[in-house]
Amino acid sequence: MAKFEFPRNFFWGAATSAHQVEGNNHNDWTEWEYLNAKRLTLNAQKKNWPDYILKNYPNPLQEENYISGCACDHYHRFHEDFDIVKSLGHNAHRFSIEWSRIEPEEGKWNEKEIEHYHQVISALHERGIEPFITLWHWTNPVWVAKQGGWANKKTVGDFARYVNKLVRSEGFVDVKFWVTLNETNVYTGHGYWNGSWPPGKRSLLKYLKTNHHLSQAHIEAYKIIKSANPKAEIGIAHSMIYFTKFPAGLKNFIYNHFFLRSIKEYQNFVGVNYYFSDRKTIERSEFNNWPIDSDGFYHVLKEAAKYGKPVYVTENGIADAEDKKRGKYITDHFAAMHKAISEGVDVRGYLYWSLLDNFEWSSGFWPRFGLVEVDYKTMERKIRQSAYEYAKIAKVNAVDL
Ligand code: BGC
Repeated sequence: MAKFEFPRNFFWGAATSAHQVEGNNHNDWTEWEYLNAKRLTLNAQKKNWPDYILKNYPNPLQEENYISGCACDHYHRFHEDFDIVKSLGHNAHRFSIEWSRIEPEEGKWNEKEIEHYHQVISALHERGIEPFITLWHWTNPVWVAKQGGWANKKTVGDFARYVNKLVRSEGFVDVKFWVTLNETNVYTGHGYWNGSWPPGKRSLLKYLKTNHHLSQAHIEAYKIIKSANPKAEIGIAHSMIYFTKFPAGLKNFIYNHFFLRSIKEYQNFVGVNYYFSDRKTIERSEFNNWPIDSDGFYHVLKEAAKYGKPVYVTENGIADAEDKKRGKYITDHFAAMHKAISEGVDVRGYLYWSLLDNFEWSSGFWPRFGLVEVDYKTMERKIRQSAYEYAKIAKVNAVDL
């Protein structure tokens, strides 16, 4: 048995995103859900599902699985959820702000919603938990979608105005960690390359334009946040995959580095979201059959280190309804992260995806990523065994292997 200690003041926590947990949002995803729920249910009927998935509510064969609805009702229950976060020994928490709540109509600010997020930040601070705020986690106000979403250059300016409004609002100026955008590569891939997510428009031109506009939006947001708070630490949460198959170098460049390079002068840290590699592994996540490969995690951390900036793991996790694999998944990934740190990668924090079971986009509620199980009928929260295993590590800042 070896003991691996993590650097002092390491951040341990979990992440969520607004649309996936809050409930009662109205944005472009909400509209897409209503248009696509039936189709997704019919598609699911063509697959074989294990009983342990079908016995949960909602299951993939039910249409309500694909409608985010009241999600985890985290919007009303964040105090209770942050009590859990604290009890698990976390000292950081990543969450996102829903642009469509702040600016439901172009140029019209909803001050009550800004105050809501101020309360969220205060609730974290009161519990000694460092907030990592994501400004955009894939959902757009309906009016933004109507003007062509991120394929329209105008959206860059609109996003900048939203960021400016927010960071100068009471309660936000002192926030240190800002994640401007979540996984631009996944967003543009699904939205414009294969068209499986909103806006569901396959177009190479729009794919390229959207990437470019998101990069510009990040740079604008970076400048705005820095001018409001020079001490802010700003980055993106970037999806990274460990590629081993030909042409691995090219895939690594396009998927892992292309976007990061376009913003490299404008980031204080690199945020890594890691779930899988392209290797054949025996163990797989329930979601999309993603290979579980903790060694791949070590490799992507080394890739992220190439920018010479601190690295935060902004997401890493597994869908595991029965919680049979999650404990080992977490410790194995911590060992890989420790190996990267011992070789000089400046990893400063780890945020597990996700705190709660939640609405997994076009797959709906059935994938269970949470450290905490959610009963969608009663909204009751139940802490999973693996969350306690994680808590033990977080509390002593070291992992025994
Ligand atoms: C996203 C999350 C998502 C998770 C699991 C990431 O790509 O940022 O929103 O729930 O992966 O699929």
